[in-house]
This record gives sequence, structure tokens and C-alpha cells, in this order.
Amino acid sequence: MASILHIDSSPRGERSKSRQLAKEFITAWQDRHPDDAIAYRDLRQTPVPHVTEDWIAAYFTPPEALTPEMAELLKFSDELVDEFLAADRCVFSVPMYNFSIPSNFKAYIDHIVRVNRTFSDENGQFKGFANGKKVLFITSRGVEFGSGSPYEGWDAQEPALRYPFQFMGVTDIQFIHANGLDLGDDARKRGLNEARSKIQALVGSW
Ligand SMILES: Cc1cc2nc3c(=O)[nH]c(=O)nc-3n(C[C@H](O)[C@H](O)[C@H](O)COP(=O)(O)O)c2cc1C
Repeated sequence: MASILHIDSSPRGERSKSRQLAKEFITAWQDRHPDDAIAYRDLRQTPVPHVTEDWIAAYFTPPEALTPEMAELLKFSDELVDEFLAADRCVFSVPMYNFSIPSNFKAYIDHIVRVNRTFSDENGQFKGFANGKKVLFITSRGVEFGSGSPYEGWDAQEPALRYPFQFMGVTDIQFIHANGLDLGDDARKRGLNEARSKIQALVGSW
């Protein structure tokens, strides 16, 4: 039995395509693996605050020197780290915003990339602790990025997601992108169909 962490980040609810696709993946996964435990977090319902100067001061304070106020500031981040580390597999749904990621998912990343929790720093030698985990990102995008598109090479979303997780030691990172969702009915159908085919293929082999 594996533990799966499923996080949705779109500020949109039912209309969100990234949520719909992640739900389809999770539903198909549960059909195949009914005993797996799914932890669900919705960043729309429970937003992660942006980091502050006081939070950063607490972050860099050794655990034994934390004041009660500092410990309180880190409490939510601690919960997010525990939840992330406990998962064998993560499914994150993330829309593209301004060629990168929405600020709520960036805030989530800022809270889980924690020294001595998800990585260590030995005089500038960094080591991630989150190895052995599989991470799948399901993304939704308004435009297309293929060869010949005016936006070819503009995808800053995939690196914004990949590198922090690689830094934390995750080696198995996969992406399913739904492209062209705001380019009219034909492009939307094509983008969703391609993403759904990849979901069906991955759910049997992940
Ligand atoms: C604030 C904002 C910024 C966006 N920026 C981009 C962008 O840079 N590139 C892109 O392809 N689509 C962009 N889009 C379109 C969304 O990625 C697209 O509509 C996607 O389906 C939204 O995800 P959701 O359906 O899960 O909410 C943007 C949408 C919003 C609301």
C-alpha cells in the first residue's frame, strides 16, 4: 500500500482543467490501487502564506534555539514538510501563470524546501532527503509551446517545478501538460485529449 499526496493549486474550482485532469488520474489510480491512502490538499481552500522576514529568521534558527513564537511561525511549514515526506508519490496539479507557476504553488514550494528537513547544507554541499519518491505534475496552459509556436522556448513553468524538487532529492519527476486550452474549441479538445491519453498510459505504468 502506497501513500499518495494529491494537491490542487488552481484558484478556479469546478472550471479548472488542471483539477479535472488530476482528478481523472487519481480516480483511475484508485480503481487500480484501492488500498492506497490518498492525502488531499487544496491550496485554494487552505492558502499557503508568502514567506516573511520573521519566518525566514525562524527558518535559519537551530531547532533548540527556537522561541515559542518562532516555532509557531514554522508550524504550518512543518506540517507541509511532514505531509510531503510521508508520501510515496505526489500528484500536483498546477496551471501555467505568466509562463511560470501561480504564486500559491510557489509559496507551497518555499514552505517545503527546508534545511535539515528536506535537504542538508554541509558548507555549500547540498543533499536532498526526498529520494525514493515519485512526483507527477499535471499542468494546464492557455497556449502551445511546440515547434513553430510563437511561444516555443517560453516554458518557464516546467523548470520552476522540476528544479526545487530535484534539489530536494526527487529523481523521478514526470509532467503531463495540457496545452492550448485557451486557443479555441479545436485546440482545447486536442490539448485535453492528448493529456488524457498520457494520463491513461501513465496510470498503468507509474
Ligand atoms: C493570471 C493568468 C495568467 C496566465 N498566464 C498564462 C501563460 O503565461 N501562458 C499560458 O499558456 N496560459 C496562461 N494562462 C492560461 C491558463 O494557464 C489556462 O487558462 C489554464 O487552463 C488555467 O488552469 P485551470 O484551468 O486549472 O484554472 C493564464 C491564466 C491566468 C488566469
